[in-house]
Amino acid sequence: KKISMIGLPMDLGQTRRGVDMGPSAIRYAGVVERLEALEIEVDDLGDIVVGRPRLIENPNSNLKNLELVGKANVMLAENVDRIIGKGSFPLVLGGDHSIAIGTLAGVAKHYENLGVIWYDAHGDLNTEQTSPSGNIHGMPLAVSLGLGHSDLVNIYGYAPKVKPENIVIIGARSLDHGEKELIRDKGIKVFTMHEIDRLGMAKVMEESIGYLRGRTDGVHLSLDLDGIDPQDAPGVGTPVIGGISYRESHLAMEMLAEAGIVTSAEFVEVNPILDERNKTATVAVALMGSLFGEKLL
Ligand code: ARG
Ligand code: MN
Ligand code: MN
Ligand code: MN
Repeated sequence: KKISMIGLPMDLGQTRRGVDMGPSAIRYAGVVERLEALEIEVDDLGDIVVGRPRLIENPNSNLKNLELVGKANVMLAENVDRIIGKGSFPLVLGGDHSIAIGTLAGVAKHYENLGVIWYDAHGDLNTEQTSPSGNIHGMPLAVSLGLGHSDLVNIYGYAPKVKPENIVIIGARSLDHGEKELIRDKGIKVFTMHEIDRLGMAKVMEESIGYLRGRTDGVHLSLDLDGIDPQDAPGVGTPVIGGISYRESHLAMEMLAEAGIVTSAEFVEVNPILDERNKTATVAVALMGSLFGEKLL
């Protein structure tokens, strides 16, 4: 197995600066060494160049940095598409969660029925109309379903990227009104913190894996570090108390590794400025270890 790792150091999908340093923080937390220790070949392709654009407000849209976010995501889609084309596993480092728009654009081309595990405190199912913030990082899952601003929805020349019945959201505990409506309308499968507490993570993962296995030909894991409790992962821009624990998250990754269903992954929203001694990037790397088969014995 070969992993091709690529960073998108972009923080334009939200307003707390610093999440553009996520890829560096994750590298410094030892991701390559950790995965190579598992006898996996890791090809670090480096970071996509976003530059230091002057942020200008667009009076015609409440979407922040729409053009810049769109452009960066097209570059990411091209890279991810190429990685899969070569037969390698794409591992994308964020960046805020708006980069999932590009990742999914590059990945979904290769699958008839791509499954998505959205491991997150949030649904990221807002559209231009429902978003309370105008932050694009609150929209990537809706965009991938074909809902939202057409410039985002049509990125990489096709839409939608995923079907609602192929999505499982895990860890939700903060959903906006419009997101709840969308979840109900589309029948999206969600394991909120209520289900995780009630059933336990083992059962939640068993059900998620069983559900996706039957209907998908590939599964993308989109892991927002804010899915994890802020005590364990404090370096995120939109922390929500009452999250998934470090241990539950390891179990989830281990069960995914055992199931062998994940075909691409991204780890997003690591913000070193808000972090405590790179704790959140370290958690991300530890979880990647489990996702790619690390075991104690
Ligand atoms: N729902 C809120 C919004 O639309 C927060 C989104 C947080 N998303 C994230 N990827 N951290 O602004
Ligand atoms: Mn989130
Ligand atoms: Mn309503
Ligand atoms: Mn998110």
